[in-house]
Amino acid sequence: MNTLPDTKAPHESDEDHLHFFADYEPPTDDFMADTLTGLSRNQKSLSPKYFYDQKGSALFDEICRAPEYYVTRTELALLDQILPEVAELTGPEAIVIEWGSGSSWKIRKLLDGLDNPAEYIAIDISRDHLKAAAAEIGRQYPDVKVGAICADFLAPIALPPEAIVSEGRRLGFLPGSTIGNFDPHVAAEILRKAAALLGAGGAMLIGVDLEKDEDTLLAAYDDAGGITASFNLNLLARMKDELGAQVDVDAFEHEAIYNREFHRVEMHLKAKVATGISIAGQEFIMAPGETIHTENSHKFTLAGFQEIAKTAGFEPEAVWRDPDGLFSLHYLTLP
Ligand code: AVJ
Repeated sequence: MNTLPDTKAPHESDEDHLHFFADYEPPTDDFMADTLTGLSRNQKSLSPKYFYDQKGSALFDEICRAPEYYVTRTELALLDQILPEVAELTGPEAIVIEWGSGSSWKIRKLLDGLDNPAEYIAIDISRDHLKAAAAEIGRQYPDVKVGAICADFLAPIALPPEAIVSEGRRLGFLPGSTIGNFDPHVAAEILRKAAALLGAGGAMLIGVDLEKDEDTLLAAYDDAGGITASFNLNLLARMKDELGAQVDVDAFEHEAIYNREFHRVEMHLKAKVATGISIAGQEFIMAPGETIHTENSHKFTLAGFQEIAKTAGFEPEAVWRDPDGLFSLHYLTLP
């Protein structure tokens, strides 16, 4: 999701730096169809995956630096602190598999901290971003073989034979509380797919955001600088630019709420006044106060997340929290 600096020399192709590239050809996003379906629902909704166009990805990077958004800096500091233990638990010559190819600085920390990692494999749905991001790691880590798999997180994927370059442990990496974007039953399904790919003896290092007081949570998703608001409202700009939608962006405001029942922060685009969105000849009326639900960000207790991991076949081996109890990293293993 984060944008990487484009430092490659013009004559080098990304493929030159990839040990393998496997393409599961995930269906390409249909922003038009998904928007029409989402706006037709009783509770209007849109998938958070549409946040990340170029502008949205840049805004997300800014969110990660916002003082209220404790998630990124807390996880990075915690990762620094626990790396020796993670290296010890993992052993030498690991095959590191990352779900998502965006967390460039986090994967660098992990590769730097492990004992002589043999291979890095990135799994991502966005083909071009995946190739570029993985190739960049390949350039920077000449001793690490680098592969890429283009697939949906929920696709049943297998490692191609050429990917097995080491007898070392397979270590899955899913940082940033990305797992929190999914409903718990989907999160469990993603972990089951991960378990199947990692196989017996495999392990997973996963970043999970924790339940905490509502003020802290809401500030993180509605920063005073208005970055998260811009990030959310950018969806309406995308509708205009890419779908030719007629929409009065000023009639909407960003809203973050904490849903206690479902243990999640929800982001909505709320109509301040009666307004409408028309796209491709379809007109969607919005009453004052009505919302488009754009994201869920689930928050967990340590035990609550471990229960989900267990249903996917993992055993909780270690778990760490920062001193303020804001964020957790879980080391899960497969017997
Ligand atoms: C990238 C899904 C982990 O839920 O905290 C940040 C996205 N949304 N601020 C999160 C996000 C608003 C983020 N994840």
